[in-house]
This record gives sequence, structure tokens and C-alpha cells, in this order.
Amino acid sequence: MDRRNALRNLAQFFAASPLFSERMFADRKHSDPTDALHDAVNVFDFAKLAKAKMDPLAWDYVDEGSEDEAALKANRAAFEQLIIRPHFLDRDVSRVDVSTTLFGKKLPQPIYLCPTGGKNCVMKDGEKETAIAAGAQDTMMVTSGGIDDVLRSGKGPKVWWQFTTAAEFRSKEKMADFAASLKDKGCTGISVTVDIYHVSHRERSMHNGLVRAWCNLNGIPRKAGGEVDYKPDDILWASGEMPPVLRFPTPTWDTLRQLHEAADMPVIVKGVLTGEDTEKAVKYGLSGVVVSNHGARQMDQVGGTIEALPECVQAAGGKIPVLIDGGFRRGTDVFKALALGASAVGIGRPYLWGLAAFGNRGVARVIELLRAELATDMGMSGVSAVSQLDRSFVRSRVRPL
Ligand SMILES: Cc1cc2nc3c(=O)[nH]c(=O)nc-3n(C[C@H](O)[C@H](O)[C@H](O)COP(=O)(O)O)c2cc1C
Repeated sequence: MDRRNALRNLAQFFAASPLFSERMFADRKHSDPTDALHDAVNVFDFAKLAKAKMDPLAWDYVDEGSEDEAALKANRAAFEQLIIRPHFLDRDVSRVDVSTTLFGKKLPQPIYLCPTGGKNCVMKDGEKETAIAAGAQDTMMVTSGGIDDVLRSGKGPKVWWQFTTAAEFRSKEKMADFAASLKDKGCTGISVTVDIYHVSHRERSMHNGLVRAWCNLNGIPRKAGGEVDYKPDDILWASGEMPPVLRFPTPTWDTLRQLHEAADMPVIVKGVLTGEDTEKAVKYGLSGVVVSNHGARQMDQVGGTIEALPECVQAAGGKIPVLIDGGFRRGTDVFKALALGASAVGIGRPYLWGLAAFGNRGVARVIELLRAELATDMGMSGVSAVSQLDRSFVRSRVRPL
């Protein structure tokens, strides 16, 4: 048999194999191979595309962590300390279901979009574009606000939460008004971020001379020649300054309890990193916690969030859901968190990369990629439903879990 015949036989063998069946590549048929969106085969590819497209100051603003960026590295490195332990043949994995239920809402996947401020440095009207993608992918989104017209158009997410720091509420009446207006708009719940009452030192942006307000407005202003276009009243991000004395006291656990009492909807606390604070969230009647270090952009040296997850899950004791975000880039990362007891996993930078590269289509594709990776990883580990995952599916290289 000559070489050409041998190759033809090999091709026929693969074509006949169920592994390479049309069903398997069904979605390939429908996607346009000339569409650059499909050049990105994983989330990291979107980072490369986004970096090539974004203003370097905007890229650093999104990418950076605070101070030594130790927590930023830890968010990723900590996943490497966890090893997946598949359990084969216990279940039929011919069909894998990654859907879940959170606060009584069915979600097609346990992956959601975290709140990210300053999206206009990524793309004009970035919040709205993100909401459109969340709607298209039926994905839970925590919004910083400003998506009302997307919601009215029916194109927004069905499950969406409002971000707040709760610092703006000075009375229970104000809390009730805030919650009532959210309720009218169909909001699912309130997510209170508790790690941002003081702004951290993000030193890449300091070196770059970034004016943080640009990211809430029109992005980085540049003159025709490319120089950054500063205005006399621009405030640069600087070190060596004491944090300003805030106009009002910052919220306490009691404030959050009051907010929850005033709101006829769930209230979750974002930024929890210890079992003690998770216990307090339970004690103060809150609906859930998000284990988060703000994408390593606030307090540095707090470790990776996945390292904090086990103690928070233990402290929650099944009474409230424990969500997590920080450094999730792969289906295997999500798998590990679910196995450790997380109810859902949030992503920040990955969808901002999708947004920068392709607008709402990019955000949607990032969600699709992560969902598909998770499903594949579950199927390859003997798991056909999210509820089957437990601690027996992971072990730590360094210490017992
Ligand atoms: C550019 C940017 C802006 C962010 N702004 C906020 C914010 O305003 N409020 C908040 O609670 N978290 C904010 N975060 C943190 C995210 O909600 C989330 O905790 C984090 O991005 C998750 O980590 P990851 O980016 O590694 O996925 C921001 C993150 C980024 C990258």
C-alpha cells in the first residue's frame, strides 16, 4: 500500500469512528471559520487579543493587582496546589448537565459575571454590552448599574444582582427606597462589597499616571499625537498620602442586617476571606457570602481565594451559599471550587478581555468556553451533574483539606 492509500484509509477510519462523529463537531459546522472570534480557543487567548487592542494604560488598569501583586499571583498559583481526583464508572456521563440552582433561580451554569467598575476603559458602554451578553448566555450578572435600558429591551440577564458598598445608606428608609427601586426593575438581589472602603495602591496605574475617573467616562484621553491629554483638575493615583477621612462611618454587620431587613430580596456579602466572617454573615441573617479578594486589587498578601474557600464553606455549614471569585480561567478551576463546596464561581477579567476584543460577542464566547470546559472536565472525571461534586474530587499537594 502506498503512502497516499495509507493516509486515505486512516482518514476513513477516523471519519467512521464515533469519537469523530458529526454530532461531536456539530457546533463547528455552524460557526464561521473566518470569524476571528473562534481564533481564541480558551480564555487566555482572549487576554492576548485584548492586550493587543487596548490602550496600554487601560490594559494595566484591568490587569493589575495592588502593591506587590502577591495576591494576584496567589489567585492563580493556588489552583496548582489542588489536584483533581476523578471517579470513573460510577455514573453514566453520556450527558453532562452543568446547570445549578442558586437562591431559587435556575442557572444554566454555575459561572457568573462579577461587578467590575470602569468598563469604559475597556469599551464604551461596556456595562450595557456585558448585560447583553449575559442575557444572550442566560448568565447571572452582578451589575454596577446603568443597564436599565438593556433590561427594558428584554435583552438583559434574567438573573441580575446590584453591586453596592452600602456606604451611601445613612438610614433604613434610604435602604428601603434603594431596594424598592431595584425590585421594580426585577433585580434578583443585592451584593455588598466590603473590601473597598479605602482605595488600594495599584502601582502600575500610579506609574502610568492613570486618572481613575477616565474609566468611568470615555476611556484614556489621547491627543492626536498619542500623548495622554491631562486636564488641570485631573487627580492622579498617588502613593504617600494618608487615606482620606471619609464623610460617613463605614458600614458594619449591623448595617448589612438592616439592609437585608429593608430589602425584600437576598443580600450577599462580597469580599469575605475567613471562616469567622462567614459565621458572622450567618449570624446577621445575610443570604450568602462571596469569597473574594477583589481580583487582588484591594488588600494585598491575603492569599488566593481558593485557599480561603474550605474554611468559609465549613463555617457556612450549609446554612448559606458560598460563592467565590478570583483567578478563575479554566473549567478545571471552576471544578475545583465546586468540589470544595462553592455554589457558584464569578469571573472578572476574563469577560473584560472578551469585551475588549469583540464586545458583547466576546463576553458571550468567554462564558461559552468556560461552560464547555467545565462540562468536558466533569464528563472526563465521572461526573454528570454539579450536585455530584464533593471534596473527594480534589486533594491538596501541600496539606490535607
Ligand atoms: C477592572 C476591574 C474593576 C473591578 N471593579 C469592582 C467593583 O467596582 N466592585 C467590586 O465589588 N469588585 C470589582 N472588581 C472585582 C471583581 O468583582 C472580582 O472580584 C474579580 O475581578 C475576580 O477576579 P478575576 O478578575 O481574577 O476573575 C473589579 C475587578 C476588575 C478587574
